[in-house]
Amino acid sequence: MESELASRLSALVLDWYRQNARVFPWRIPPDQTRRGVRQDPYLVWLSEIMLQQTTTAHVAPYFQRFQARWPTIQALGQASWDEVSSAWAGLGYYSRARNLHACARIVSEAGGFPDDLPSLRKLPGIGPYTAAAVAAIAFGRRVAPVDGNIERVASRLAAVTGEVDGPGLRSLRRRVEDIAQGLFDHLEDAAPSGDLAQGLMDLGAQVCSPRRPACSLCPVVSECAAHAQGSPEAYPVKAQRAPRPNRYGAAFVPFRPDGTVFVVRRPPTGLLGGMTMPLTTSLGEAPFLYLPEGAPDGRVWRRMGEVSHVFTHFALSLQVWRADVGAGDDLGEEGRWVAHEEAMAAFPTLGRKILRTALLGEGPTS
Ligand code: ADE
Repeated sequence: MESELASRLSALVLDWYRQNARVFPWRIPPDQTRRGVRQDPYLVWLSEIMLQQTTTAHVAPYFQRFQARWPTIQALGQASWDEVSSAWAGLGYYSRARNLHACARIVSEAGGFPDDLPSLRKLPGIGPYTAAAVAAIAFGRRVAPVDGNIERVASRLAAVTGEVDGPGLRSLRRRVEDIAQGLFDHLEDAAPSGDLAQGLMDLGAQVCSPRRPACSLCPVVSECAAHAQGSPEAYPVKAQRAPRPNRYGAAFVPFRPDGTVFVVRRPPTGLLGGMTMPLTTSLGEAPFLYLPEGAPDGRVWRRMGEVSHVFTHFALSLQVWRADVGAGDDLGEEGRWVAHEEAMAAFPTLGRKILRTALLGEGPTS
């Protein structure tokens, strides 16, 4: 893209953002960034980690709770894993919580976040996107954080097309990144980089949407190659997704007469790593027909129903089995007994579905 066009586009997006910026608790509004006010790098980083794979509406209350409880990176660095994992429960993609905790410790020991891409990239949980987002929004660096929204806007502006096999996809991605980066390279000197980044994100989320883009509201429609072709929805070009396989398993929820349930800490890596969960079997390719192996022996297990949960790479169906055991039954497994309300708070969403079904039977939302 020529530089004159790139600087015109970035100025138009910035102007549009000044009128249309969404309000989020992690943002400094554009009338303040214009006057040089910058967001705390800790809060930018926290929001960007939370926003990976998750919607802004879902993230907002979690962000506010984290910010109130741990207002600084030092406070978060001193929190225990149990506190952080319980506060994260329900946000999904739990390796993010482990990396967040590890990163908070490193950064608080170092006295603050580094402000350049290569050093940001060395921190746990910070990939190319997050490093660029923090560098642009918190430190004003002229770098493009290419998330799904910015990818869509850039690939439509230039109607980027090509092969979608392995190497083809990489070259497509590079071309889209170059277009996005061109906008940052040609941003007027005094303009805040973070506003261009968030302006492009908002444009992608609110106007240049995946299925029915509102081109009549777009500030750069006159320069959009995909619009000129009459087919903005055709971009970005994508490879066909492989269908999601099904996986099956079972969960066991023993209750003591005082209303406590038995919970375990999952191994630190792998699915729901490090999270508090009910006991579960390993997962297989077919459902169980009878009480599965792995159910602690000698207790009366009742099948309460089934829960489903969709992970990125597979769809899971879990049978839920409940046993009402004696007050002194320790189950002979590694774990602990906690009030079921406390378990509900600490569990990730899948654990909550399991516990709800163990308490109430199969419901419409399981
Ligand atoms: N998604 C990722 N980062 C974001 C931000 N800063 N504002 C809105 N949506 C986002």
